[in-house]
Amino acid sequence: MKKAYQTTNEVYGEDDKLTEAEDSLSLEVLERVRRTAWAGRKIYYFPVVDSTNDKARQLAAEGCPDGTLVVAGRQEAGKGRRGRSWVSPDGCGIFMTLLLKPDICPDNASMLTLVAALSVVRAIENQTKVPVGIKWPNDIVLNGKKICGILTEMCMDSGRISHVVVGIGINVHNASFPNEVSETATSLYLETGMHCSRAALIEEVLEQFETFYAIYRKTEELSGLVGVYDAHLVNRHRQVRVLDPTEPFEGEAQGITPRGELIVDTPDGRRLVSAGEVSVRGVYGYV
Ligand code: BTN
Repeated sequence: MKKAYQTTNEVYGEDDKLTEAEDSLSLEVLERVRRTAWAGRKIYYFPVVDSTNDKARQLAAEGCPDGTLVVAGRQEAGKGRRGRSWVSPDGCGIFMTLLLKPDICPDNASMLTLVAALSVVRAIENQTKVPVGIKWPNDIVLNGKKICGILTEMCMDSGRISHVVVGIGINVHNASFPNEVSETATSLYLETGMHCSRAALIEEVLEQFETFYAIYRKTEELSGLVGVYDAHLVNRHRQVRVLDPTEPFEGEAQGITPRGELIVDTPDGRRLVSAGEVSVRGVYGYV
């Protein structure tokens, strides 16, 4: 017998039940729930793609505008950070990429990943009423395991940003994971018992992104967002190991700077860690 779970999303209403099988995703559904001003103003839905990030880059090259959204039912070559792959089975997750064409300094673009992380956190919390955290810089974690990863890629033209793609993968309905990632990966279903509507969650991520992005754009950095980011930072006041390829070190994470660097207090003094250069682990495990 198929199990049904309560869903908190507005699309289906408080009293309706949603099963994984009923959580259909299509262009029509995504357009029906769209309430944003510019994010997702043009939506592409593909049942199957190699990678939504690659598709968004291709669409950008073809002239698609700022705010274009690419969503897939599954990915055959989903990309993670540091050359890793992203598990992207059919119907289980959210595989989405937002195309941005911002007129900003290229040095400030990496902070967009943290803006996206905040958007996902706020969206999941609003949809599920379950508190989630951020493992610096942009892994979203629930009960110490990863439920979402973000891959931001920038394309330059003559020293200026031609476009940025912000790719977001959220594990929604997965009941299990391949051995390689099962120690660290989890899904919203596994942690909450709920089958959330992916369309409603995508819409909420876009709405939250519009809000946080507007704050970021005022200064082109994160000074207006440090407080809310630090409040969700699971590494805060914990010992972390910074896997710097030249010189790994340990210390206590304190929060982020307005440029999104992780502040780490070591026995030798304070160090600022930039995302992209290194990865950070908890001394006693993933977080
Ligand atoms: C990470 O390693 O944590 C980043 C994972 C990013 C996965 C998403 S899924 C949608 C988008 N398309 C991709 O190929 N990757 C990102």
